[in-house]
Amino acid sequence: VTSAVNDALIERGEYDHFMLKEIHEQSESLARSIMPYINQATQTVSVPEAAETLFADADRAVAIACGTAFYAAFTAKYWFEQIARLAFEPDIASEFRYRRPVLPQKGFSLFVSQSGETADTLAALRYCRENRTPAIAVVNVPESSIAREAASIVPTHAGPEIGVASTKAFTAQLSVLAVLALSAAKARGHLLPGDEMNYVRSLLALPRKVTEALECAGQVREIARHIAGKRDVLFLGRGRYYPLALEGALKLKEVSYIHAEGYAAGELKHGPIALIEKGLPVVVVAPKDELFEKTISNVEEVRARGAEIILISDAAGIKAAGKRADHVILLPDGDDISLPILSAVPLQLLAYYVALTRGTDVDQPRNLAKSVTVE
Ligand code: G6P
Repeated sequence: VTSAVNDALIERGEYDHFMLKEIHEQSESLARSIMPYINQATQTVSVPEAAETLFADADRAVAIACGTAFYAAFTAKYWFEQIARLAFEPDIASEFRYRRPVLPQKGFSLFVSQSGETADTLAALRYCRENRTPAIAVVNVPESSIAREAASIVPTHAGPEIGVASTKAFTAQLSVLAVLALSAAKARGHLLPGDEMNYVRSLLALPRKVTEALECAGQVREIARHIAGKRDVLFLGRGRYYPLALEGALKLKEVSYIHAEGYAAGELKHGPIALIEKGLPVVVVAPKDELFEKTISNVEEVRARGAEIILISDAAGIKAAGKRADHVILLPDGDDISLPILSAVPLQLLAYYVALTRGTDVDQPRNLAKSVTVE
């Protein structure tokens, strides 16, 4: 890329911060990331052959990443296990690399990285290579070290991400991981053609739905003004929304410096419920799915102790439980693949607007680096 093109790419335009610009770019970044892996004529998914061959006979997969990319890999666990029936173990690169981990016999390793240069992730990739476990890389920078050293690359096309806290790269990673999970499901005989078509339609609708999801911005800004004065915030989710709760908490910590924790809703009574006191904001990520009622009974438990509930859900969920929340944030309708991706949008906006109210340096938070190339 010439420097003129580069300058144009990183132009902030009408936005006050790159983070906000990148949040609003997700309709395009998702379209760019999904389209290369969809055959529109047949309404099927198609991924690089090298990756596809690994899926059919795999006994197990390990997925390695750091930070937000790790939460993308963790979300993908739910898709790979539930849709493709493949054992899928997400791992934090800095832990994985020093453990002498037992690698899959017939399986593969998957590396998720925006920059493709994160030192721990790269070291973990080298460990897998030395031990002859084929590596698939989901990276946003195709000329990066991780891309060069992997056996197969399945790029995200989020475009350059300038904000240190990852936003559009995260949703792009999720969308590509979803395509991979569907392709694995197909290769392993677990996906009926009709189901594949429904998932493909849902993926193709994502760019439009993200635009819809962004309509909550004004309302999230109001909620954020309120949260900005708090000391702690708890994020809860179950199943495929648990990693989203973790990412929501990470985003808030990174840019607003408010202490935030993400928890699996079912773990609440094993510790975090001790923290609940009057006025503690609890953000609940819970579109209506098979675990919804369970999450809502956890909501009741914290509400009874005075927590302030912010419920992020779809129309069906808000209809069923909206009255039990102090604030509701409406997501567009979707399925088990699109709704986790769409849930990221209000979480990103919440972190952004809380940070804005508190006057922190949103694009360059203190102590953080965009790319951690040393240990
Ligand atoms: C840093 C960034 C995060 C990012 C993580 C992993 O901590 O601040 O936003 O998620 O590194 O980076 P990668 O480039 O490997 O996705």
